[in-house]
Amino acid sequence: MCGIVGYVGPEAASPRLLDGLRRLEYRGYDSAGLAVHDGSGLHVARSVGRLAALEARLADSPLAGSVGVGHTRWATHGAPSEANAHPHLSPDGRIAVVHNGIIENYRELREELAAAGHRFQSETDTETLPHLIQREVADGAASGLDAIAAALRKARGAYALGILLAGEPEVVYAARLGSPLIVGVGEGETYIASDVPAIVNRVRKVIYLEDGQIARLTAAGVEVFDLDGRPAPFEVKDVTVSAESADRAGFETFMLKEIHEQPRILRDLLHQHVDADGRILLPDLHLDEATLKGLDHIFAVACGTAFHAAMYGKILIEHLTSLRVDIELASEFRYRRPKVDGRTLLLAVSQSGETADTLASVRMAHSRGCRVVSICNVHDSSLVRECDGVLYTQAGPEIGVASTKAYTTQLLSFVLLALHLARLRGDLEEPEIRRRLQALRAVPNAIHYVLERKDAIERIADKHHDGPSSLYLGRRFNVPTALEGALKNKEISYQHAEGYAAGEMKHGPIALIHEYLPVVCICTRTEDEVYDKMVSNLREVEARHGRIIALATDGDRAIAEVAEDVIFVPETLEEFSPLVNVVALQLLAYFAAKARGTDIDKPRNLAKSVTVE
Ligand code: AGP
Repeated sequence: MCGIVGYVGPEAASPRLLDGLRRLEYRGYDSAGLAVHDGSGLHVARSVGRLAALEARLADSPLAGSVGVGHTRWATHGAPSEANAHPHLSPDGRIAVVHNGIIENYRELREELAAAGHRFQSETDTETLPHLIQREVADGAASGLDAIAAALRKARGAYALGILLAGEPEVVYAARLGSPLIVGVGEGETYIASDVPAIVNRVRKVIYLEDGQIARLTAAGVEVFDLDGRPAPFEVKDVTVSAESADRAGFETFMLKEIHEQPRILRDLLHQHVDADGRILLPDLHLDEATLKGLDHIFAVACGTAFHAAMYGKILIEHLTSLRVDIELASEFRYRRPKVDGRTLLLAVSQSGETADTLASVRMAHSRGCRVVSICNVHDSSLVRECDGVLYTQAGPEIGVASTKAYTTQLLSFVLLALHLARLRGDLEEPEIRRRLQALRAVPNAIHYVLERKDAIERIADKHHDGPSSLYLGRRFNVPTALEGALKNKEISYQHAEGYAAGEMKHGPIALIHEYLPVVCICTRTEDEVYDKMVSNLREVEARHGRIIALATDGDRAIAEVAEDVIFVPETLEEFSPLVNVVALQLLAYFAAKARGTDIDKPRNLAKSVTVE
């Protein structure tokens, strides 16, 4: 997800823009840039890498002026490079644009413009926009607003835009379609931003632009128009997030911030463990190749959310390798007589590394001669100290009691382990490994798109949050997703929820179906008949007037005919779909809890780490 900030007022623009971009760093990015109007024209500074590189450039060559736009870019079309960094300029240098989203018809627009003599400096879809606006100006648009509106009527896709025009030195334009963008209204100054965190320390009043709206900002205030250039209605709202919540990056809760951190964290974790040649590097596992090749049994133990990750790990490792994987709740494992010995690798999964039952299980396994490794988020935790090796999830501190980013990083850790085992043991051919690594690299972006649909997910949560219970159904890789979605809903909204393997419907749960029971069905595409079986489950629920909330793959309109509400998620390899699907369920639970007014970061009766039995 890219980050956008804009400013117009009495102060120097550059420092305000940089401050705002720093507050959007949680969104992840790989390049950054600013455009500032100094009264005589537009000036641009861009750099690859972290904001520090842009700050260094500005220290050498400051940009004067009190009107500007800034951007952090998460590369989609075109590699991370200075040429592809935003802002992008029109050929005459009189129009600067920053953009979040994708212009889906950018290829045909580029061809049309190139045929008219336009030359492009980047590989991006974004660069077509300043060219289009320039062409509208040259074709006699009556005003800057008219030129922008005419250009946007030709664009298809999703955009949140910040625009500067050399001919309007005291104005910032903004526009949105499908990508969030807000306008901040201060005292004698105005802002635009991708999200409240960027300007929570500057303004107490905001306008949430609607799709198809264009805003014209000056220091004195804001005007809003539709795509035909006609004045459009808008509402000025109070900023509900407290400025001192800066350590939450301006989010209303830690949990919401941590949900939004997931794309960046997963991308960093992947980058850390998979090198440019596709080698999987797990140095802290301390298991040599001979040991890994000689394994015939893994036993995974965990509690709560971590157990759902272990369940996913079992399904995936057995899907990709010849290994047998058993799993058990740590609170049960420690009191049973599980069949583990020196030939078993015990895998302990824990965010905190301090969970009493998990630690007790590790000690018992050690006493049986097992090698023990952990998937853990906390360096130097008790678990890490007691294990022979570790796969760190690197999620950073997880403050919200309900686990979100810890869970998806646990899932990714299992993916890395499974592919590493499959390659070492010869269970998968190299092309099959590479195909999966390629699909894995697309997961963070897919999660971005789910996050950008949070408004739609909130509307669904608002409809269904007040019932006594809800049912979550999934199949195969997404059975753990269903259980995790139900757990999220239980622990933060206090509404009872139950996760079930959808194939179990006829064995009991179908008796629960009635018109007041929301049934969340994970029905994203699979490469075999499992998808059809899931659709049959949806029809069973529909036939009994259950209220279906379906998770479906983008474009799967057939599901919309059966479900009352649909949350669309980008197409992902089924094996990795849990990493994307669960984010939609995290948000669904989040907004249900918000509607029910619970203490989301610190739900009643719960502790972040259960260090006692
Ligand atoms: C998850 O939302 C809960 N906070 C809880 O189930 C948690 O996953 C469980 O207590 C295990 O904690 P751990 O991962 O730190 O061992």
